[in-house]
Amino acid sequence: MEFNRRIKIAPSILAADFSNIGREIKAIESHGADWVHVDVMDGHFVPNLTIGPPAVKAIRKHITTVMDVHLMIAPVDPFVEAFADAGADILTAHIEAGPHIHRTLQMIRHNGMKAGVALNPGTPASAISNIINQIDLVCVMTVNPGFGGQKFLNMSSKIGALQKIIGDRPVYIEVDGGIDSKTASIVSKAGAHVLVAGSAVFRNGSAHQPNSYGHNINAIRQSAHNTTTAS
Ligand code: DX5
Ligand code: ZN
Repeated sequence: MEFNRRIKIAPSILAADFSNIGREIKAIESHGADWVHVDVMDGHFVPNLTIGPPAVKAIRKHITTVMDVHLMIAPVDPFVEAFADAGADILTAHIEAGPHIHRTLQMIRHNGMKAGVALNPGTPASAISNIINQIDLVCVMTVNPGFGGQKFLNMSSKIGALQKIIGDRPVYIEVDGGIDSKTASIVSKAGAHVLVAGSAVFRNGSAHQPNSYGHNINAIRQSAHNTTTAS
């Protein structure tokens, strides 16, 4: 994975048809997805429950791009090795998930993955100041984590503050939650370059009718680019 700041669209498969996950992944990857975002929830750190390492490993077999795994679990450390074994390229942990984020990030890199840190809406940008050299990605939550399809929260000033802290370091700024063809321009203007989108990608289509997915991904990318050139 070579770092660059080009806009990337990372569909969240939380909104996909899990009974047909292989074809869903093929559909988005052949219609413009740059990365595939996988949401892991534990019913404890967030009030929802999704999948664990064995299912993530099964999903990995279908992904040809990048598997971006977003852990909404606490604790994280006992599972880092299992997610490395499952084939995560990027493993993101929430800074709010425990007292030892620095150790968690070290473990993630030690296990051969890119290390991400996610910030809840209530957590300030300054929280990453002392882990800036331990991270490859910062995920700015633009909803409170736990569910797809929620209303976008504008975190533009936080994204701007993160940009200042990051400077020219090779750290991705990702946004997650409520991203669609309208809000994409807001976040890209603020400085985000990896856009996670679940419901806005998987609406109106299916693995059998994947053109809608392509249309949805393009609309998000267009929105992000339009503002980039305009600003
Ligand atoms: C929310 C998850 C998101 C979610 C985004 O807790 O981390 O990745 O799937 O879904 P949308 O794009 O529908 O807000
Ligand atoms: Zn996510």
